[in-house]
Amino acid sequence: MARAQTKWTGEGAGRHYAGDRFRSPRSRGRDARMVLGLLDRHGSPGGSILDAPSGTGRLQAALEPGREYLALDYSASMLAECGGERVQGEVHALPFPDDHFDTVVCCRLLHHLGPAERHQAIGELVRVCKGVVIASFWDSRSWHALRRRKGLRRARQADTRLAVPRAALRADFESAGARVVGHAASFRYLSPQTFVAATVHGR
Ligand SMILES: C[S@@+](CC[C@H](N)C(=O)[O-])C[C@H]1O[C@@H](n2cnc3c(N)ncnc32)[C@H](O)[C@@H]1O
Repeated sequence: MARAQTKWTGEGAGRHYAGDRFRSPRSRGRDARMVLGLLDRHGSPGGSILDAPSGTGRLQAALEPGREYLALDYSASMLAECGGERVQGEVHALPFPDDHFDTVVCCRLLHHLGPAERHQAIGELVRVCKGVVIASFWDSRSWHALRRRKGLRRARQADTRLAVPRAALRADFESAGARVVGHAASFRYLSPQTFVAATVHGR
């Protein structure tokens, strides 16, 4: 299980997270646009969608139209800010049967996990999905990650976020039974945050 971070689970964490963290409406909607773009290209319309972890349900308004949306997060504080259907649970042990959802979205979690935890989480995201999994990660080929590797950018103290090579991520998906079919990034090579789409091909 991932180390619980009190910034997500502590008193008032959800209220704080739901507050205005983005510089502009355009940056606020960026993740949703990435996910919807990949869904357009690689997903099928409608069906059920799991948003895990959902946080405060930031992506819900974009993902919900025409789909049966379910939010999952381990933080009660985050879930308290979500509207609609929600479940408290662990990404590393999702409380659903195999092949349960048409689409599974995992936004802004993987870069907080070490390689073994990431592998396990991807295994679970793929296990409960019968269609496409869309996840964000920090791309090790981004300028941001490169500067950090070269020591040109000092990591903030206690900043444990990790960039991952695309090949390692692809291997995680492959071993879980999914094939990487596309990527999307709003500022390719600049922004570390990148999205990957993987279609489930069976176990
Ligand atoms: C950076 S937030 C992202 C939330 C949302 N996906 C978004 O983009 O706004 C990370 C979320 O992951 C949740 N989380 C972290 N580890 C988790 C785990 N192992 N299982 C379930 N939720 C987890 C936290 O509670 C937090 O809400």
